[in-house]
Amino acid sequence: MQTVEAKGFMIPIIGLGTWELRGRDCARLVEQAIHLGYRHIDTAQMYANEAEVGEGVRNSGRRSDVMVTTKVAHTNMAPQDVERSVKESLRKLRIDEIDLLIIHWPNERIPLAETLGAMAKMKQVGYVKQLGVSNFTVKLLDEAVKATDEPLVCNQIEYHPFLDQTKVVAATKAHGMAVVAYSPIARGSASGNEVLERIGRAHGKSAAQVSLRWLVQQDIVVIPRTSKRERLEENVAIFDFALSPAEMAEIAALSAAQKRIVNLAWSPEWD
Ligand SMILES: NC(=O)c1ccc[n+]([C@@H]2O[C@H](COP(=O)([O-])OP(=O)(O)OC[C@H]3O[C@@H](n4cnc5c(N)ncnc54)[C@H](OP(=O)(O)O)[C@@H]3O)[C@@H](O)[C@H]2O)c1
Repeated sequence: MQTVEAKGFMIPIIGLGTWELRGRDCARLVEQAIHLGYRHIDTAQMYANEAEVGEGVRNSGRRSDVMVTTKVAHTNMAPQDVERSVKESLRKLRIDEIDLLIIHWPNERIPLAETLGAMAKMKQVGYVKQLGVSNFTVKLLDEAVKATDEPLVCNQIEYHPFLDQTKVVAATKAHGMAVVAYSPIARGSASGNEVLERIGRAHGKSAAQVSLRWLVQQDIVVIPRTSKRERLEENVAIFDFALSPAEMAEIAALSAAQKRIVNLAWSPEWD
């Protein structure tokens, strides 16, 4: 599996998203994904599936080859809540160490230095390997890197062909951090898009595969979610073709739609 390097940490370029995957199905899919070559699994305290994700990782027998990410909920940003909730995540996941711990959403009520300080402590005691953030804007990224001496290795953000993320992608990369694209196939709506379908036909690929390829060709990590085994395979079969510069540009132009899917009551003011 190809990787993206950030501050010496290698992030497998495709991960399995697990939002809304539940119970036995979740554990089974995680295990199948690892057998199919996935080396990166994305969960969160908010997804209420850490136990099943951990079960799938353990059942695969390949724990040491897999990077497990979990995210601290925005309601757990106070230092004592970071500590308590990270211990709870580890208990649910039943793994030795969280490979990547990220702030799920910024919370302006808690100073970033306090949250990041507590996360750094979790790293120092060996509960966590690396730290990152999610849903951080250009301004928040600047604040975050000033607020901690610990390297922050990623910013996980919504990114797909229908959303222009030029500014935050440039800022994330300028800080030496990896961009991790969530909703990379626009919650399935890449399928049916006329441009993506046409480009896909030219390469013998689906529109979803074109969307994922467009991201990885920009050195962006993708974490597509699926509940279907056959799509687990489809979503990693994107390394046997390449999009031309003209195709890359045509897909980038779809962002004129400015279709943001994830916008919650606590979202920051987007760039
Ligand atoms: N940090 C954050 O705030 C944040 C926010 C949102 C998401 N995330 C993470 O990012 C992951 C991915 O994002 P997402 O779940 O929002 O959306 P997504 O991965 O873009 O899309 C998932 C949807 O696409 C369908 N799908 C998957 N593969 C497909 C294919 N090859 N062809 C057609 N349809 C396909 C799935 O349906 P089937 O199940 O039927 O295949 C599902 O409905 C999440 O699961 C989560 O881990 C993080």
